[in-house]
Formats: sequence, structure tokens, C-alpha cells
Amino acid sequence: MIDLHNHLLPGLDDGPTTTAEALEMARAAVAAGISVMACTPHVAVKYPNRPDDIRAGVEQLQLEIRQAGIDLRLVPGAEISTDLVDRLDDDELRRLSLNDSGWLLVEAPFSGWPVRLPKLIGELEIRGFRVLIAHPERSQAIQHSPDRLRDLIGRGALAQANASSFVGDHGRLVTQTAKLLLHNELVHVLASDAHSATWRPPGVAEGQRIAARELGVWPDQLDWMVNEGPRQILEGGIVRPPRFVPRPLAREDRTPDRPRG
Ligand SMILES: [Fe+2]
Repeated sequence: MIDLHNHLLPGLDDGPTTTAEALEMARAAVAAGISVMACTPHVAVKYPNRPDDIRAGVEQLQLEIRQAGIDLRLVPGAEISTDLVDRLDDDELRRLSLNDSGWLLVEAPFSGWPVRLPKLIGELEIRGFRVLIAHPERSQAIQHSPDRLRDLIGRGALAQANASSFVGDHGRLVTQTAKLLLHNELVHVLASDAHSATWRPPGVAEGQRIAARELGVWPDQLDWMVNEGPRQILEGGIVRPPRFVPRPLAREDRTPDRPRG
């Protein structure tokens, strides 16, 4: 699986502070079935990371990961705040995009909603960038009015939900919102948003399983959200999310009828 949103790089934001902690996270990610991680440290007023900082961090940690015998590939990225995304020039944005693909992971604000966001997405598209909205289900504005997200997606954005939101790690309202967005085809990618090996750990399988149950499909029918979709995004080509149509249970998978009488 490919994880498009996590805070694996040490010392750049509120993720791990030491390389040892980052390696522990990397091991946990591999154990959870992740083979590729796009490293997405915050780029925000509080964490003014530059593209060069992130690239150096990826190179260094990839080296450590290889030396530790962990089978995990890292690619650069960033989680960019809405406050900063339109203040960066094209070169900076390209180097902050996921694997240089032109796809920008933009953090949905937890409170408030920039009225210029829909317009901003259109302007970024004209500049050659596409937007993947990070964890909209955690945004109060989306919780109150999910159609705000529909507006962004109608302008070419896609949405990434945290797998942990389906598990319930962020409270009931976030879980309800994640499920509502899922039913309305407003979730395209699942990612971990992992911050440590234990608190918000790597891995998306449990969230995928719960999301699938919610839609009435088998977990493997949502593989696009954690494999093919993220791969298409990292390659920067055309991304076409599928519709997830329930597949009937095979006869042998049906629970036997209870004896009557
Ligand atoms: Fe994040």
C-alpha cells in the first residue's frame, strides 16, 4: 500500500523528534502493509519547512531505513496550509508536490473556512497544480456543511480521509462526517496521517475495512484508495477514481441460515 500523508520525517514538525523514533514508525508502517510513503511534513506558519529541508530529510531517512534493513521507499511531499499555498511560487510548489507530481496535499483547516478556497483551487489548476484535500472530515466547516467539499471536488480537487477517522480516533463527529463523505463519493484516498509509532500510528487497513463495511463492499474493493489511486497521483497522470459498487457475497461466503423452528 502507498501512504500519501504522514509525518515520518524527524525533527521537522509535530512528528517524531529523533531518527530512532522515525525508524520505529517505518517498521510499524511495513508491518501494516505499507511499501511507499510520501513524506508530508507540515508547511505552515508554525512549521516553515522549505522544499530543500524536506528533500534532505527524505534522503537522510531513506539511507537510515536502508541501513536498518527496512523495506520502505520514501518520496518527498508536504502538507501545505491554506494560508501559505498561494504565496509560494511555481518552483516551490512543484518541489513540495507529492513526488514532484504536481499534486499538492493541502490541509483542510480545523476551524474556519477560507472563502477563497474554491477560487484558489481553480487558480492552482491554471498554474498546473492539482489539489488533494487532507482530512476534510476533521474540519468543522465540512462537518457542518459537507457540500463545501463537493464544491472543491467539482473544481478538480480530490479528497484524502484519514483511515483513523473511520476507526474513531478523532471522535464521533469526525467518524460520522467521514462516513457521510464516503457515501457521497467525496473520499478518494485513505492515508494514515501518522505522527508516531504508537500515537496515530502508520497503517490504513483497519480504516479501509470499516469504510468497506460502511459501503457494503469487500475491503479489497477499496484497494484503489490505498494502491492504484495513490500510485496515479504520485505519477502525476490522469487520476480517475472508480465508483465502489457493492459486490454480492459469493455463495460460500454467506453465513449459513439459522435453523428454523
Ligand atoms: Fe497531517
